[in-house]
Amino acid sequence: MEGNAVRNNGLAGPEREPGEIDTSVAHAARVYDYLLGGKANFAVDRAAAERAYAAWPGGLDGVRADARTHRAVLGRMVRYLARDAGIRQFLDIGTGIPKEGNVHEVAQREAPESRVVYVDRDPIVLAHAHQLLRGAPEGATGYIYGELREPAAILRAAAETLDFSRPVAVMLFGILHFFSDADDPRAVVGQLAASLAPDSYLALSHLARDVEGEALAETFRRLNAVMAESVTLRSHDEVAGLFGGLELVEPGVVQLPQWRPEAGTVPAGPLPMWCGVARKVS
Ligand SMILES: C[S@@+](CC[C@H](N)C(=O)[O-])C[C@H]1O[C@@H](n2cnc3c(N)ncnc32)[C@H](O)[C@@H]1O
Repeated sequence: MEGNAVRNNGLAGPEREPGEIDTSVAHAARVYDYLLGGKANFAVDRAAAERAYAAWPGGLDGVRADARTHRAVLGRMVRYLARDAGIRQFLDIGTGIPKEGNVHEVAQREAPESRVVYVDRDPIVLAHAHQLLRGAPEGATGYIYGELREPAAILRAAAETLDFSRPVAVMLFGILHFFSDADDPRAVVGQLAASLAPDSYLALSHLARDVEGEALAETFRRLNAVMAESVTLRSHDEVAGLFGGLELVEPGVVQLPQWRPEAGTVPAGPLPMWCGVARKVS
């Protein structure tokens, strides 16, 4: 298995060429970067965010705080998986532009031998991927320019860094709401889960349809009109259904602040995103 490597066009099957960075239309990775105070975004992303998130509960400041909570929960889940579940391999699909608290940083702080493969389909993430490849020498990090709609190709490429005969945690954080019902996100998750060894995990977060319903519907009416990717909001039960036959760990599918809050933090809410972690039992 390789050490740290960028796998550009590394997918088997139809060749996947990275597209140009298109600054004529807003992109989810760059809008999210803007919300988190990053610099890898363009005027079109900032304008889309400012107009759409004016409708979010608490406006732009509200969504910025919620985006920080989202990153914090990603960190909490990775810590839980590394520390409590003994996971040493991670496949993070829909990585986004690198930021503080990337999966390998959190995992390797717990266990330096952790191996992490990142996947994203946006060329701006590829342009920054080198920042994800500076992991601990005891472990490994890799990057795949890839598309979640092609799970078999992702699994093939990730197998150069990860051993799928042993447990792997698949992170699908803030990505499945870019799948319409016609895209059948449950089938894609099922395909990934079927390839995992027993005691593997799936961690996901997803925008909610049934929390702050009207505000969210208006936010994404505005955003979907101008963004390259279109968002589909889902209810608690629909998000729980995405886990298929996997066994949810406590506290199940909850709003972000309620997922195992750490000592000293007060769960806030409501926050219109569902999240959860589940284990593959056999
Ligand atoms: C909101 S960001 C989430 C970033 C990170 N996972 C986090 O939670 O902080 C969503 C990312 O998913 C990526 N994405 C969306 N649809 C995708 C797909 N079908 N395949 C691969 N990446 C995708 C976008 O390019 C974007 O970088």
